[in-house]
Amino acid sequence: MTQSVLEVGKSELAPEGISRVDSPEGFIAVYELDGAYYATQDGCTHARASLSEGEILEGELIECPVHGGTFHIPSGRAVGFPCKTPLRTYEVVDTGRTLLIHLERQAAATASDGETNTNGA
Ligand code: FES
Repeated sequence: MTQSVLEVGKSELAPEGISRVDSPEGFIAVYELDGAYYATQDGCTHARASLSEGEILEGELIECPVHGGTFHIPSGRAVGFPCKTPLRTYEVVDTGRTLLIHLERQAAATASDGETNTNGA
């Protein structure tokens, strides 16, 4: 049976940063941005890189550590060259001490993403 919800203790996560979490779907990057939590696939869609080793930039962006491409974390949208393919996002429910990461549901921001460019660079 496939596990559809991954429970992660907040105490296991890096505060105000990015953590890499193993799941049946592969590695997931979990981000904390001003107390809100988001999850995306950990692998960059451009080539082989772990986004959890990247840097969070202003505008809720994650910068890939290999070629410097950027993605909008809440929506997974690719916003900076050379990235073009969006990231898979996962719905995250904050229960207080733990996060429930729904492996079969995308984050709400994904559906209403549109073409808005939040890259202030
Ligand atoms: S591997 Fe991420 S931008 Fe190239």
